[in-house]
Amino acid sequence: MAKEMKKIMVTGSVGQIGSELTMALREKYGNDNVLATGHRTQPKPELRDSGPFEFINVAKRETIDEVVKKYDIDTIYHLSAILSAVGEKNPYLAWDVNMNGTYNILEAAREFDMTRIFVPSSIAVFGPETPLDNTPQETILKPKTMYGVTKVAGELLCDYYVKRFDVDVRGCRYPGIISYETLPGGGTTDYAVAIYFEAVKNKKYTCFVKEETMLPMMYMPDCIKAAIDLMEADFSQLKHHSDFNVTGMSFSAGELAAEIQKHIPEFVCEYEPDFRQDIADSWPNSLDDSAAREEWGWSPSFDLAAMSEDMLKVLSQRHADGTLDY
Ligand code: SER
Repeated sequence: MAKEMKKIMVTGSVGQIGSELTMALREKYGNDNVLATGHRTQPKPELRDSGPFEFINVAKRETIDEVVKKYDIDTIYHLSAILSAVGEKNPYLAWDVNMNGTYNILEAAREFDMTRIFVPSSIAVFGPETPLDNTPQETILKPKTMYGVTKVAGELLCDYYVKRFDVDVRGCRYPGIISYETLPGGGTTDYAVAIYFEAVKNKKYTCFVKEETMLPMMYMPDCIKAAIDLMEADFSQLKHHSDFNVTGMSFSAGELAAEIQKHIPEFVCEYEPDFRQDIADSWPNSLDDSAAREEWGWSPSFDLAAMSEDMLKVLSQRHADGTLDY
């Protein structure tokens, strides 16, 4: 009989995914049952005031143990990570946070006999030798970024804990995530978020990857659904654990700009590729997520048109109200 998830902790709860996932988990499992944690950055009032919040440093095990004991945590969504672009500027920090952080969370899960752990992976596990189109579930994982290195090692470590220690760890390879609540913190796919904000605010955007650059992406409601559905899935149905390909859509930067122009015809996008172009070029155009579909019923709801309509509706309203926070 599967153990219940009663007391949940979210690491990285102040980040792009964590901030919205925490609110969704509080809605689903009860505000007091979801501890939000962060490292230094102050939470927005909505997050801070809707349930418990603590500061921890995932690279320091004792700070994890302290809150795990205090709140009797049995489930962790481990969202804290240094993303690809910041990771190339500071590879030592990326290793420390991503590798030691994941190891510490897994060790805490093992020692405290936790119910379930979610550790997201990323399209950054792939590299230039990987097939670019409809990238298979099982394929070449030879990333060239420190972020990618830590995500491949993280997947392997998570699967090791499943097999060796019976810790129930689950995770999916997220593509670029697009959202309007919290900006991403230094990834390669950030242009696909920034372009919406700039389109609404300034009617122009200078994109840091080329017009033809294509990457897999996902809208935040699907990102949250993937995390919650995978964590709710029947363990006995899972053949994979920590490395499910998941995707919502794929588009080039030019196609994204053209979609926005359908709503804001005067919008102009220019392209000035920087160091992130090489990273983007090493990642897939599109993903095959059939394993996730078969093993736990993954199915995204948003395509480029539906996402753009929603993003622009919310951001335009905020711009009109004077509350567009960018
Ligand atoms: N969005 C991430 C990044 O660009 C990929 O996981 O680094």
